[in-house]
Amino acid sequence: MKPAQRAQHLPAYFFATLNQRLAALQTEGADVIRLDAGSPDMPPAPFLLDILKGSTDDPTKHNYGGYAGQPHLRRAIAHYYRQRFDVQLADDELVPLIGSKEGVVNLHLAWLDPGDLSLVPDPGYPSYYFAPMLAGGRPERFDLLPERGWLPNLSAIPVKTARPARLLWLNYPNNPTGATATLDFFAEAVDFCRQYDLLLCHDAPYTDVTFDGCTAPSVLQVPGAKEVAIEFNSLSKTYNMAGWRVGMAVGNPVAIKALATVKTQIDSGIAKPIQDMAAAALTGDQNWLVERNAVYQQRRDLCLTTLKKLGLKANPPQGALYVWFRTPPGYTSLDFHHLLLEKAHLSVTPGHIFGKNGEGWIRLSIATKTERLKEALTRLEHTLLLTR
Ligand SMILES: Cc1ncc(COP(=O)(O)O)c(C=O)c1O
Repeated sequence: MKPAQRAQHLPAYFFATLNQRLAALQTEGADVIRLDAGSPDMPPAPFLLDILKGSTDDPTKHNYGGYAGQPHLRRAIAHYYRQRFDVQLADDELVPLIGSKEGVVNLHLAWLDPGDLSLVPDPGYPSYYFAPMLAGGRPERFDLLPERGWLPNLSAIPVKTARPARLLWLNYPNNPTGATATLDFFAEAVDFCRQYDLLLCHDAPYTDVTFDGCTAPSVLQVPGAKEVAIEFNSLSKTYNMAGWRVGMAVGNPVAIKALATVKTQIDSGIAKPIQDMAAAALTGDQNWLVERNAVYQQRRDLCLTTLKKLGLKANPPQGALYVWFRTPPGYTSLDFHHLLLEKAHLSVTPGHIFGKNGEGWIRLSIATKTERLKEALTRLEHTLLLTR
């Protein structure tokens, strides 16, 4: 039996492999603290759970959810973009997703022909790099560097790379660095993509997880952005709904239509009770997010204080769910990840999985109960003391 080349050449997804090791450690009785994944630990607001529960009791809500989503969810997506960003979306400028990850990956099937090039950030979310390969295309990385606030210097991308490319990926608030982008930067990116006829893909699942009073913009706020841009958004982090799998793609109608068409062959829509909950999340009271973000901010500050005390250089994040810090001298990202996992039963993400510019960095997730996070930071401190 022989799988396709594309499956053979795809490396194991880091978190799938990590989960196997974590399961083995847990079987041995280890109390592992997970600061690796960005999966919110807090539940959605109670009013959303009430809607979900009520909807599951309705016998008409158990059939397929529909390729294009239910009309009230589509209206709710448009409402959210209008309220949150003052962006108007026409009906052909949006499609609901079963979490944004499937949309991010399926977009490659919709936009890349064999051999086509996609420009992806380094460091960046691993799917930007591997999805082009699934579609028969090729990824080409461009640098995000700390000295530029983890924003790319687009004009440094060689013309001979930009000209044949088809896609350019951006993601702010950024995973893994926590950096945010301004609307001016997005305007620059829109110009760049217009100049080279690239589809600008902005992946924005952390738009509503920000700190210190920062409000993250949508790329669609740039005048004319819809001519070249598509934005992926998600309810996973914004509304603590990661397991329920709801997201959206919005923007350029040609790209939306291509993605929606590909999806009709792949999935059959989001479960109706989940669509009801999602529509209520997008249109209902948003005040609970302020309190939720304050909890994340407090956890972020706990991490930054400890890392500073330990002499580990951290990048203070303005958004997203991560603290991104330098490995201690003498350790690669993977060495330090192993050390913490095996000696302290503390699971963090090694930066190299996000690209070569992630080497020498560690990503720590703040989506873990505050008491467990405190215990994790104590374990980090003890492990470092033992190695010094
Ligand atoms: C940058 C980025 N994009 C997309 C996703 C996928 O989010 P979801 O599929 O839950 O919407 C994640 C999840 O961690 C992410 O960090």
